Amino acid sequence: MAVGTVLITGGTGYIGSFTSLALLEHGYDVVIVDNLYNSSKVALDRIELICGRRPEFYKVDITDEEALSKVFEKHPSIDSVIHFAALKAVGESGEIPLEYYRVNVGGSISLLRAMSKNNVTNIVFSSSATVYGDATRFENMIPIPEHCPIGPTNTYGRTKAMIEDVITDHVKAQRSNLQKAGKPFEQWNGALLRYFNPCGAHPSGIMGEDPQGVPYNLLPLMGKVATGDREKLLVFGDDYPSRDGTAIRDYIHVVDLAKGHLVALNYLRENKPGVKAWNLGSGRGSTVYEMIKAFNAVIGRELKYEVVARRQGDVLDLTANPTLANEELKWKTEIPMEQACEDLWRWVNNNPQGYRQDPPPELLAAVKGPKA
Ligand SMILES: NC(=O)c1ccc[n+]([C@@H]2O[C@H](COP(=O)([O-])OP(=O)(O)OC[C@H]3O[C@@H](n4cnc5c(N)ncnc54)[C@H](O)[C@@H]3O)[C@@H](O)[C@H]2O)c1
Repeated sequence: MAVGTVLITGGTGYIGSFTSLALLEHGYDVVIVDNLYNSSKVALDRIELICGRRPEFYKVDITDEEALSKVFEKHPSIDSVIHFAALKAVGESGEIPLEYYRVNVGGSISLLRAMSKNNVTNIVFSSSATVYGDATRFENMIPIPEHCPIGPTNTYGRTKAMIEDVITDHVKAQRSNLQKAGKPFEQWNGALLRYFNPCGAHPSGIMGEDPQGVPYNLLPLMGKVATGDREKLLVFGDDYPSRDGTAIRDYIHVVDLAKGHLVALNYLRENKPGVKAWNLGSGRGSTVYEMIKAFNAVIGRELKYEVVARRQGDVLDLTANPTLANEELKWKTEIPMEQACEDLWRWVNNNPQGYRQDPPPELLAAVKGPKA
């Protein structure tokens, strides 16, 4: 018997696929909805290859409340949702803000309405450290704790902060309305997971990030330069007041991040806390130059890079204070960024076409090996 059944929106995407894998490995049944805007169904095959179990999949747009409702009706055992589906490119969000508000905020409202209609009452939400904005505007807020005031500096971040509010208000209202009616209310809960910089790939080398367009995050970009797909890396600003002039981020391995979702979901189901926010980060900040150095050490050569102007909306330092998640969720990162660089390289070097190619037979044999 499954521990429970979870709907994962955006579950064929990067973080969603690793979280689906973690849940399946821990006895949950998984139902994915995704419109495949930025992902591929091949992720489902890779999940199955690694853990021997396959999520159910529906091609559904998150803004389609009726279609979401049908999925819930078809799977009455679903009691929780992990919500990843979103548009996520910071630069693009400033160019087409209405699309970002429509999909991210509008889609979350459709989801919450469909959940309410079908009595699905736990939601774990993919928020982002971006909601804090520039935490250096305050004293003593680096590393960033959850009580740091919210103040996003771009449209994408504002959609995330807004969805946090929508979830908080809705869960509170559901609880209070049910309580007033003398009905059980504690089943309504929300986890707002503020991730720092997710990176890395599965250690098997057959599953990783496979963005459909040009990636904008440092690690996938380093991968593209290393495989020769891109000529050089752009370093956005070397005049920050950091130890080497480049911006500081807290890189978290996607396998650690996926486990963070599993423990947050279990926490909601066991402790019924209402809505709570947790930072998911390592607490260790690395500069862009430190990441380039770590990646160079893995590939055994020097990546070509060019320093250009700072990117608008970028901030000096996003390093997590993960104490709350360490203590309450009994979760902490276990995989250092050096390992994330190694895993990323194994993935991109062996699969330069991402999910549009088969992995090398020796990697597949190694995955299938122990189960045979
Ligand atoms: N990767 C990061 O650096 C990072 C950092 C903080 C937060 N997040 C958040 O985590 C979540 C997952 O990010 P990811 O890196 O895995 O991105 P991703 O693009 O790989 O995954 C998002 C998934 O949502 C799907 N999707 C997009 N629009 C949809 C729609 N209208 N209907 C249904 N599905 C739709 C995409 O096809 C994709 O599979 C996002 O909400 C993102 O904002 C990501």
